[in-house]
Amino acid sequence: MRRLLVLVLSALLVPTGVAAADVQVVGGERASIAANPWAVHLTDARGAQFCGGTLVAPAKVLTAAHCVQGRSPRNLRVVAGREDKLDRESGIVATPVDIWLHPQFIAADQGEDLAVLTLGEALPYSPLPFAEAADGPLYEPGTQLRALGWGRTSENGRTSRFLMQATLPVLPDDYCVRTYPHFVKADMFCAGYEGGKVDTCQGDSGGPIVAGGKLVGVTSWGEGCARKGKPGVYVRVSRYAKDLHPVVNPAPAEVVDP
Ligand code: ARG
Repeated sequence: MRRLLVLVLSALLVPTGVAAADVQVVGGERASIAANPWAVHLTDARGAQFCGGTLVAPAKVLTAAHCVQGRSPRNLRVVAGREDKLDRESGIVATPVDIWLHPQFIAADQGEDLAVLTLGEALPYSPLPFAEAADGPLYEPGTQLRALGWGRTSENGRTSRFLMQATLPVLPDDYCVRTYPHFVKADMFCAGYEGGKVDTCQGDSGGPIVAGGKLVGVTSWGEGCARKGKPGVYVRVSRYAKDLHPVVNPAPAEVVDP
């Protein structure tokens, strides 16, 4: 009798509508680091992961300003070439030597949510080029983008041990403005599904959303995760190409004639 009661109770308690074992990024799937060698994650000096990033040059990582604002480079680590956060034998852990924050950055939902970390050495992984002014078509509504990260796999859940990915279509700017009245069209775009269910989440910030072999956006903000009518918001990277070029590809120091 007692056993029967336990059975009935546990059946009632199984959460409905949540695929407990298989929900990733939120609603995504595993991705390999071999296929996405430019995907990196950021940790504190103790190894706790809190954001993502993208290798955009051999010694430059593009991430979100809100990920690194107020942190000093020596308390930050860039982990590259590592798909499984717990696999301490794989990849490379690098400490940045410098942090560039976009000079106009105030808060993620006001735009300019970009930072570039300079590493002391070039990493042996292929960088991903970022979108330029001429890449407007990548931002057309309906373009299928792929977001990657080690962030939470549900709104209040834990971050992921493995690199995850999800396909998210670009949504029309008007939709983003309606759902987020302070959304800044020129600086941001939103991507996902009107019904929610698939999205980036906390811990994915700073990480890549890509298409056509280019970094199209940087994960920035959203209300909750994977909520209906509340898509993720990403930095419109092409708009910042001219700010990024001098930081990512600085002109070689001038040789002064003696
Ligand atoms: N701000 C979050 C972070 O720091 C990312 C939020 C993305 N939210 C979303 N619903 N897509 O990791």
